[in-house]
Amino acid sequence: MKVLVTGGCGYIGSHTVVELLQEDYEVVIIDNLSNSLKEVLTSIETITKKKPIFYEGDVVDFSLLRKVFSEHSFDAVIHFAGYKAVGESVQKPLMYYRNNLESTLHLCEVMKEFGCKRLVFSSSATVYGSPKKLPITEEMPLSTTNPYGTTKLMIENILRDLSSSDNEWSIALLRYFNPIGAHSSGLIGENPKGIPNNLMPYIIKVAMGELPQLDIFGNDYNTKDGTGVRDYIHVVDLAQGHIAALNKVINSTGIDACNLGTGKGYSVLELVQTFEKVNHIKIPYQIAPRRAGDVAECYADCSYAKKQLDWSSKKDLETMCRDAYHYISVLKKSTDI
Ligand code: NAD
Ligand code: UD1
Repeated sequence: MKVLVTGGCGYIGSHTVVELLQEDYEVVIIDNLSNSLKEVLTSIETITKKKPIFYEGDVVDFSLLRKVFSEHSFDAVIHFAGYKAVGESVQKPLMYYRNNLESTLHLCEVMKEFGCKRLVFSSSATVYGSPKKLPITEEMPLSTTNPYGTTKLMIENILRDLSSSDNEWSIALLRYFNPIGAHSSGLIGENPKGIPNNLMPYIIKVAMGELPQLDIFGNDYNTKDGTGVRDYIHVVDLAQGHIAALNKVINSTGIDACNLGTGKGYSVLELVQTFEKVNHIKIPYQIAPRRAGDVAECYADCSYAKKQLDWSSKKDLETMCRDAYHYISVLKKSTDI
């Protein structure tokens, strides 16, 4: 089986490529390296002893897509490429709409042209907006609170229309909750540039001494300890969810949305305390005002993923915290040498 992975050098993409190669899929990556480094390909090769084929370029570029599809016959595509920072999407909406929508539209047009109609798409729990009920099931109403989220919802709708227009398409919409952690080798993981917006990357910067302390955004929510509750999922579990989704799209037709989470909610304080315990490191923090747009609690009902994909997450919060820190420690050691 040969799979095209767009955005395969990124955080979730690289972990998925590792799982695909380990399952003996042939992998071709397109990535423009706008939010990743080419060195990740060497790390993938070190882990798997296999080499994915790599095209450096933009998924928006029709001529590149046609070149790649004429050089390979794909059984399916996993589409990760896109921009993902919520705050930036509010500042630069046009950039987000252009990249996320055009990459998907152009990709689907070329897939159709070459008769490849199996797609796994990276959606997000952000399409549930501010959920009225917990845990979140796939049938709950969809809405968005920022341009990034709107691109994901628009793409889901486009893909539904595509599926209704032609019943040969087979599409999985995977709604990720909060992916954290890294590969146990410490060779691939998440290392955003600048000051991170998300919790785990921020904790890591504090642990490395690059930022003085964590601001916890609110301790007066109606939750177990007053801080926000989220469904953190290990990125390797998430990557394995893509293999399960790939099996599904290869063996069926139609379109289906599926939550990928653990089904468990942990508070900010629980995450901080677990990180401190497993890594033997203190994370100084202060309580800050709530962050605009945050919800108190968000966690998935994962029973549909179990039923449809025969997939469920396996790794616990301790492993997520240990692996996230291990990756950065390995990275720091290699750059210090
Ligand atoms: P990432 O930024 O690490 O990876 C995205 C990759 O796509 C990067 O390597 C980037 O260089 C590449 N890329 C972006 N636009 C491109 C284009 N036009 N052409 C070619 N390459 C392009 O992000 P990630 O965390 O791995 O997320 C992957 C996907 O999952 C994204 O679509 C994101 O919106 C979605 N998602 C992520 C999260 C999360 O918390 N990380 C949660 C929900 C959904
Ligand atoms: C964010 C995105 C969401 C995306 C998800 C994917 C926003 C508003 N939402 O979700 O669209 O799908 O990432 O991973 O960016 N927190 C702190 N201090 C910090 C950072 C975060 O206390 O410095 C708290 C937040 O208030 C929240 C929790 O930690 O309660 C998790 O925050 P974060 O990692 O940013 O993820 P989400 O907001 O859930």
